Amino acid sequence: MNHLIHGVNAVLSLPRQVQPNAIESLLMKLPKADVPEVWNTAFGPESLYEAWSQTRVARGVYMANTGVLRQFLDGRPNWRVLEVGAGNGALWRRLLGPDDVGTLVLVDPVTDAHAQVAGALPPGVKLESRVGRIESLTDLPEVDAVVCSLTLHHVAGRNSEERAQHDLKGPGKREVLAAFGEAIRARDGMLLLNEADVHCEIDLPPNDPMLRDRLIDSYVRRCGRAMLDDLSVVGLEKSLAARFEHILRFWCLEQVRLADSSLVDRDVYELDVGRWREVLADAGLRVDEVRSTDAYGLFFQYRCGV
Ligand SMILES: C[S@@+](CC[C@H](N)C(=O)[O-])C[C@H]1O[C@@H](n2cnc3c(N)ncnc32)[C@H](O)[C@@H]1O
Repeated sequence: MNHLIHGVNAVLSLPRQVQPNAIESLLMKLPKADVPEVWNTAFGPESLYEAWSQTRVARGVYMANTGVLRQFLDGRPNWRVLEVGAGNGALWRRLLGPDDVGTLVLVDPVTDAHAQVAGALPPGVKLESRVGRIESLTDLPEVDAVVCSLTLHHVAGRNSEERAQHDLKGPGKREVLAAFGEAIRARDGMLLLNEADVHCEIDLPPNDPMLRDRLIDSYVRRCGRAMLDDLSVVGLEKSLAARFEHILRFWCLEQVRLADSSLVDRDVYELDVGRWREVLADAGLRVDEVRSTDAYGLFFQYRCGV
C-alpha cells in the first residue's frame, strides 16, 4: 500500500484529538510534489476537477440533482435555468439529451468553466454566459429553476450584518439566496442547493481548534474516507487513480491548513444542515425537502420554492 493511503487510514484510526498533529506530520513526510491545481481553477478533460466529478460523493450530487431536475424540466417546455457555479458541466452531460430545448444562464468567475459547460450542452439548449461572482450580480433573470451546487459556501457570512462584523462589505448568503427566490418567483420555480453539512462560517476565527476539527470532519473523516473507498475499487484506471490520490492529498488533507489562513483567504464558509435551514428561511425560501446525497453524510441537497 502506498504511503499516502496507508497514512490516511492510520489518521482515521486515531482518536479525534490527536488527528490534527497526525495529519500535519503525514503531510510533512510525503515526498515533495507541485500542487497540480488549486480547487476550482481548471475544469478540462485531464483536470483534477474532471476526476473529482467521477468520485462517489460528487456522483451522488449529480445523480440526486438529475433525478429532481429531469422530472421538473419535463413539465416545463422551453425551460430557463440559472446555474451558479459551473464546474465541468458533469450535471448537464448526465441530465440532458438530444431532444432537450431550453436556455441555461450560467454564472461563474472562471471562463474555462463556461467553455466546459458549453461543450456539455445539446444543440437545442442555448447558453447565456455571465462571467463573474454571483454576489456581484444584481440583475438575475426570471427562470424556472436555480441550481447552485457546491458553490454558495464561497460566499462568506450568513448575511451582510454578519459580514460587517468581520469588516467585509456586500451581500452574504441570505441576500444571494433571496435573489434566487426573486428569480424563481414569477414562474413558481425551484431552487436546488447542494452543500456539505459542516459549520465553518466566519464566526469561527482562524486557528480556532473547533474550526480545525470541523475542517477535518468534512475533508478527512468524510471526504477522505470516501476517497479511500474510491481508490480501493478493483481495476481503477491508472491516471484516474493518480488524480484521486492528488485530490486526497491536496484537496482533502491540505484543506485542513485552511484553519491557519486569514478569514478572507479561507474561501470556505460552510454551514451545517440546521444552519442552512435557518438562512434559507431568513431568505424567504420554503424548504420542501432536505436529503443526504452520499453514504458519508457529507453533501446534502435542499429543494426549495417560494
Ligand atoms: C466546487 S465547484 C462546483 C461546480 C458544480 N456546480 C458541481 O456541482 O460540480 C464550484 C464552482 O463555483 C465557481 N465559483 C466560485 N466562487 C463563485 C462565486 N462567488 N460565484 C459564482 N461561482 C463561483 C467555481 O469557479 C466553480 O466552477
